[in-house]
Amino acid sequence: MDVIIRESYESDGAAISDLAIAAFGESEGPVISALIEDLGADSTAEPMLSLVATIDNSVVGHILFTNAVIRQSSGSVAAAILAPLAVHPEVQNQGIGGQLIQEGIVRLKAARVDLVFVLGYPAYYTRYGFMPAAVLGYQAPYPIPKEHSDAWMVQALRPETAGTVEARVECANALDKQEYWQE
Ligand SMILES: CC(C)(COP(=O)(O)OP(=O)(O)OC[C@H]1O[C@@H](n2cnc3c(N)ncnc32)[C@H](O)[C@@H]1OP(=O)(O)O)[C@@H](O)C(=O)NCCC(=O)NCCS
Repeated sequence: MDVIIRESYESDGAAISDLAIAAFGESEGPVISALIEDLGADSTAEPMLSLVATIDNSVVGHILFTNAVIRQSSGSVAAAILAPLAVHPEVQNQGIGGQLIQEGIVRLKAARVDLVFVLGYPAYYTRYGFMPAAVLGYQAPYPIPKEHSDAWMVQALRPETAGTVEARVECANALDKQEYWQE
């Protein structure tokens, strides 16, 4: 089974939407699908990186990274937010999610992104180099309940960037809704 990871094409839109519904379910899936569409049309989400995993030309995985802004008095830090990530239930637990994360990180590094943030399962994302972000001084766009604070994570692509600023991370307009930050 050959898995190919590539940047998504505009023509992948329907397949990415179907995948979101298969992975997130009938209730949450349409919300995630609408979010992906909104981010695609949101100039504040640029630069963005949208990768798909395909098997026999069918989209079985998708990951999206969109621009984030960290305001600080000196210097500038390029940041991105990983959201969402989906792998089709029929091919989960075969490393496809991990491949999408790792390929995304390689490409973001090449694009000179310094920090990548995610709100998600700590036990999953820490496997791929993410660590709790709040202790390093990065606040999520919306307050994360204390009991889930470890779900807000960061990965420094240039290690010297981590922990050098105390700031709130600003996300793209389409992602800037409290409902998306209630992990
Ligand atoms: C989460 C998701 C993207 C993982 O994709 P995947 O391709 O199955 O992941 P991988 O094959 O890279 O990794 C599988 C491993 O992660 C673990 N894992 C999966 N979901 C996990 C979770 N929620 N918390 C902790 N570990 C998890 C699996 O148990 C498996 O562990 P193992 O290697 O010890 O057997 C996929 O399950 C999915 O699409 N879920 C529904 C949508 C979703 O929740 N997206 C993430 C939003 S943060």
